[in-house]
Amino acid sequence: MRKTVLITGAAGFIGSHIVDKFISNNYHVVAVDNLKTGNKRNINSRAEYYNVDLNRAVDVKKMLKKYKPTQIIHHASNLVDVELSVKNPSRAYKDVPMTINLLEEAVRNGLEHFIFSSSANIYGNKLKTAAKESYEDDPSSPYGLTKQAIEKFIKYASSRYNFKHTILRYFNVYGERQNINSQAAIPTFIKQLIIGQPLQIRGGNQLRDFVYVGDVAVANLLAAQAKKNFTFNIGSGKQVELKSLVMLITSIMGKKPTIQYIDREAADSFYSGGIITKAKRELGWRPQTSLKKGLTQTIDYYLKLVKR
Ligand SMILES: NC(=O)c1ccc[n+]([C@@H]2O[C@H](COP(=O)([O-])OP(=O)(O)OC[C@H]3O[C@@H](n4cnc5c(N)ncnc54)[C@H](O)[C@@H]3O)[C@@H](O)[C@H]2O)c1
Repeated sequence: MRKTVLITGAAGFIGSHIVDKFISNNYHVVAVDNLKTGNKRNINSRAEYYNVDLNRAVDVKKMLKKYKPTQIIHHASNLVDVELSVKNPSRAYKDVPMTINLLEEAVRNGLEHFIFSSSANIYGNKLKTAAKESYEDDPSSPYGLTKQAIEKFIKYASSRYNFKHTILRYFNVYGERQNINSQAAIPTFIKQLIIGQPLQIRGGNQLRDFVYVGDVAVANLLAAQAKKNFTFNIGSGKQVELKSLVMLITSIMGKKPTIQYIDREAADSFYSGGIITKAKRELGWRPQTSLKKGLTQTIDYYLKLVKR
């Protein structure tokens, strides 16, 4: 019999790739999303789409009674943007009651394993070397504080109600279907190059870890199969200077733009990177996509998108 998995945030950037990965591995996928920022077109036609606002407890109850999923992969989020979370902390924090409610109802309906999309933002902005999962949390934004609260609640509920949990702390995820209007570095630079604007680089020497979305989807599949109580860094394991990223993008696109350097935001971290040996050891996961290959695919996607 085919295994069933319920995936939230399924119409979004990362969630939709996870849906594809599970479908191609012969799972029955219940793809949950209210299309707030996601797009129905992103959802694989072989998944069973379920439209629900996860902030609405009565509707969540109805959904979980219907499917009784033993495995849930939770990627829905009311606010994914770190800077916006500083301006609107209460909107970011809505993810906390939303996730607690989802977990409570799921436990009542036979939950065995819960996978959560956390973030490297939980390490804060003072890192000087690549973070291990055992580093102390020190979030520096409402977005990171929200992830921290959810992680803690999941760990509590997992031991209290006896289900397994896997927490995946993503670094900067990029790839096809990331919103071109997102504030993230890669879509922003590609968009500026497509419309022929000068590139504005804040700082330039910052180091970042960019991980391709297809590799992130594989990490979710391996985590679902392993069902381990673990927290994992999910990044490329390599740190790239922002300036070098820009050079790579411009050379792939064959452009020679004017570049304006402006001051880095004071709150912006100089360094973001993680050690990924734990995911390699425990899940057998390895990021397979080089930055050049991932960027080439992503640029192709955006070029086709703007031609539509
Ligand atoms: N993109 C990254 O680089 C990155 C890095 C670290 C962590 N994450 C985390 O990964 C997860 C997915 O991120 P993403 O980039 O795919 O974001 P996204 O905005 O593309 O996807 C989120 C999805 O959740 C849906 N959603 C929002 N509120 C909902 C609600 N109340 N009920 C039902 N559905 C709702 C949206 O419609 C959207 O499809 C988030 O938890 C995010 O914090 C992302």
